[in-house]
Amino acid sequence: MNKTIFITGAAKRIGKEIAITFKELKWNIIIHYNSSKDDAEKLASEINEANKDTAKIVQGDLDKTDDVENIITEVQKMFPTIDLLINNASTFYPTPIDEISEKHWEKLVGSNLKGPLFLIQGLKEKLKSSKGSIINITDTNLSKGVANYSIYSAAKAGLESVTKGLARELAPEIKVNAIAPGAMLEPPDVTWTEEQKNKVIDSIPLKRMGSEKDIAEAVKFLAHSQYITGQIIKVDGGRSL
Ligand SMILES: NC(=O)c1ccc[n+]([C@@H]2O[C@H](COP(=O)([O-])OP(=O)(O)OC[C@H]3O[C@@H](n4cnc5c(N)ncnc54)[C@H](OP(=O)(O)O)[C@@H]3O)[C@@H](O)[C@H]2O)c1
Repeated sequence: MNKTIFITGAAKRIGKEIAITFKELKWNIIIHYNSSKDDAEKLASEINEANKDTAKIVQGDLDKTDDVENIITEVQKMFPTIDLLINNASTFYPTPIDEISEKHWEKLVGSNLKGPLFLIQGLKEKLKSSKGSIINITDTNLSKGVANYSIYSAAKAGLESVTKGLARELAPEIKVNAIAPGAMLEPPDVTWTEEQKNKVIDSIPLKRMGSEKDIAEAVKFLAHSQYITGQIIKVDGGRSL
């Protein structure tokens, strides 16, 4: 029986690449999206063309409790098992201290911490019965402190704490790890100048930006590992050194 991966925010960019990587492994793939319906449908049909009936889509805003509950109900009906949950969806924008409001707090914590935590809670029995794993996608820059991103950073740091706490709490049945990307892609809807890009590349020992594939390969590695839990794997070309 095929294994099943459920990836949040999988219609584009890093989440999409993880889906494509697991298509090649012939897993069933549940593609979650919020607003990118067309991209999610297109990706699902590409996967289904390659491997018949192996991709399904689910919509939901992770800021909203009802949506999270609906996602949990829907995804459990899709395939016999869920073997791997990837909490990849994320909202990312700056919140300088004087501009912080409760609305920004809810938005940044919703997709980066609260949604992932409640998805884990809702899917843990299904993951337990398949001896599955969870991978939370965080961010390598947290440890340095990032000016103007205090809410996003707090949410991702919270997700790393959840990773370690739940690695103990859900063991031995479920492995829980995090992958912390470095500078992979420009933020959505942002284009860096050559100068900005070169400055970032200069700060990376491996002298290149990361790619979606670098993260997908790390997910594949963790998915096959049987003896790693509670770890934050930095995939950042050495930037955090
Ligand atoms: N890109 C990088 O260089 C980088 C660096 C460090 C860490 N990361 C982490 O790596 C992961 C993937 O990065 P990425 O750049 O590929 O992500 P992204 O494009 O910024 O976001 C991925 C998806 O998250 C979904 N999303 C956002 N808010 C949501 C909400 N409230 N409810 C449900 N879905 C929501 C969006 O889905 P829809 O489009 O369907 O609305 C979006 O396509 C993220 O966790 C990010 O924090 C990335």
